Amino acid sequence: MSKNYNIGIIKGDGIGPEIVDEAIKVLDKVGRVFDINFEYKRMLLGGEAIDATGVPFPTETKEGAMLCDAVLFGAIGGPKWDTLERHLRPESGLLGLRAHMGTFANLRPAMVYDELVDASTLKTEVLKGVDIMVVRELTGGIYFGQPREQLEDKAYNTMIYTKEEVERIAHVAFEIAMKRDKRVCSVDKANVLEVSQFWRDIVIDIAKEYPEVELSHMYVDNAAMQLIRNPKQFDVILTGNIFGDILSDAASMLSGSIGLLPSASIGAKVGLFEPIHGSAPDIAGQNIANPLATISSASMMLRYSLGESKAADMIDAAIKTSLKEGYRTGDISAYGAKEVCSCSRMGDVIASYIKD
Ligand code: IPM
Ligand code: MG
Repeated sequence: MSKNYNIGIIKGDGIGPEIVDEAIKVLDKVGRVFDINFEYKRMLLGGEAIDATGVPFPTETKEGAMLCDAVLFGAIGGPKWDTLERHLRPESGLLGLRAHMGTFANLRPAMVYDELVDASTLKTEVLKGVDIMVVRELTGGIYFGQPREQLEDKAYNTMIYTKEEVERIAHVAFEIAMKRDKRVCSVDKANVLEVSQFWRDIVIDIAKEYPEVELSHMYVDNAAMQLIRNPKQFDVILTGNIFGDILSDAASMLSGSIGLLPSASIGAKVGLFEPIHGSAPDIAGQNIANPLATISSASMMLRYSLGESKAADMIDAAIKTSLKEGYRTGDISAYGAKEVCSCSRMGDVIASYIKD
């Protein structure tokens, strides 16, 4: 008997629709191989939701997301909505969705595909074999802290972490490290911020439950530098919301293109899966975006939310094969391209490598 999953689909803005369509193509193919039936439920978020309903996070999306087995999301935002008040902007929709779903743990792997080692601006010997998992706290910190306000002559935000918030994200990082190289580097700014010292103290406490895992600490400015200087020193990076946002963008360039890296937001009943890149309005609608980050995100969805790790492995292998065979989208076309592919062609190629 075939298995059924309800997948929430949020295409979003810019290149969102194009890249999500390719992920659906690949999911459907893997579904045929593994006898899995995916039912897709379209939901609106961000700019597309503003245009259709006047708000970036409509009630139907709020309710619909919680009824799915997992949600796959493309990207949001664009110049068209940049002048709106903050709470009406597309980004507020995404932050609202993350908070509403309670997906507090954001996993952002940064790996280097051997075939693309030349695509990075860094030297090959620095990159070969890099395999980092950034564990970013996603529903707390300065993104959500109250009070926050913009006034005439001053503006402020508040960086808050509760004990419970730090404990639960630390557990996620240590559990993941146990399945990897058993090293956690917690990144903070404890030399300046009380909230960071608090974070560090709690992480040290939680580490006692994982004696096999080696814990280190790093200030965020140093971590940004070390990521570029010698990324291989990292296994799992555990950090808060804003530091994780910044470090994961920096880490993405180790892979050569931000168009390659996926993310999983978990820790709640329903997981949310999205590429780490944005909506790239400048190339939207041209069928030239790189769908690999979204296809990889679909793979993470199979692995982390649906427990379908064999299907996830098959997608990951298909991505590797397509790169090895020289298929490249425009962003990585300068490196070993046998064929420069459109977005939809890249989806076709990956789907073609998924078979019994
Ligand atoms: C990300 C993005 C978002 C964030 C924006 C779009 C709100 O940069 O997912 O990294 O800051 O979390
Ligand atoms: Mg970001």
